Amino acid sequence: MPGRGPKKRGLESDVSEHLRSLADLLAAEESLQADGEWLPSPLDPQSLFSTPAPIELEVGCGKGLFLASAAEAHPAHNYLGVELAPGYAHLTATRCARRGLSNARVISGDATLMIRSVLGDATVHAVHVYFPDPWWKARHRKRRVLCEPFFEQAARVLIPTGVVHVWTDVEEYFDEAMVSAAATGLFKPPRDVTERAAQNDFDYRTHFERRTRLANQPVWRAELDRSDRVPPARQPITMFERIRLRTGEADPPTK
Ligand SMILES: C[S@@+](CC[C@H](N)C(=O)[O-])C[C@H]1O[C@@H](n2cnc3c(N)ncnc32)[C@H](O)[C@@H]1O
Repeated sequence: MPGRGPKKRGLESDVSEHLRSLADLLAAEESLQADGEWLPSPLDPQSLFSTPAPIELEVGCGKGLFLASAAEAHPAHNYLGVELAPGYAHLTATRCARRGLSNARVISGDATLMIRSVLGDATVHAVHVYFPDPWWKARHRKRRVLCEPFFEQAARVLIPTGVVHVWTDVEEYFDEAMVSAAATGLFKPPRDVTERAAQNDFDYRTHFERRTRLANQPVWRAELDRSDRVPPARQPITMFERIRLRTGEADPPTK
């Protein structure tokens, strides 16, 4: 799904407050760097919001159902969505702008790079990953978001009481993700999440949850609490990733 997005945006809304690109966030500092690997200054995500509040980060917010609904339901928290597909990032930002949600922001860019190399330590209260792309083909497996390095860096950006929320319709990916999280030693054993009955057609956490449940397919869900173990340090952005940032290329590399 990365790289794709809605073609028609309908009536344009002003998304200037709600939407930023990761490349733009890093551009000023990047332009001052010599070539090679680069560790940017750590970003405090509070700087993206007008009012300080606990930050909840969504990886791959897609069309933004969760981000906008959660921001509306929990005004005392700040919601930051990071979405690789520029069209979907714009759509989510539009949804948030139209509802006047000052506690929702969208970054257009690669969430794995943002978590690994940009966000400061212990700056996030929760990381939400809902229905991550399964990348079925063997040669694309390395693109899966949920892997050991991801969980290591998610643990780093989380506060000590922080939580990772994982929901997927792919049992094999879910099992693999739980093994990866456990292997880091940075999370306690996963807690199950009970399925909630939907009161109406749009009473689902995300678009993909809605689609999956209306098709009577199962969803695997877990919440992972941080353990006391100290996570690894922030990792630099590689030269190759810097080129992708400069050229505005959204997709991860295909090899
Ligand atoms: C299957 S969709 C699920 C969307 C939404 N979470 C839902 O449940 O309806 C996966 C989304 O993750 C996005 N995505 C994939 N890799 C990403 C990455 N590295 N960083 C940010 N978004 C990513 C895709 O563009 C897509 O919008």
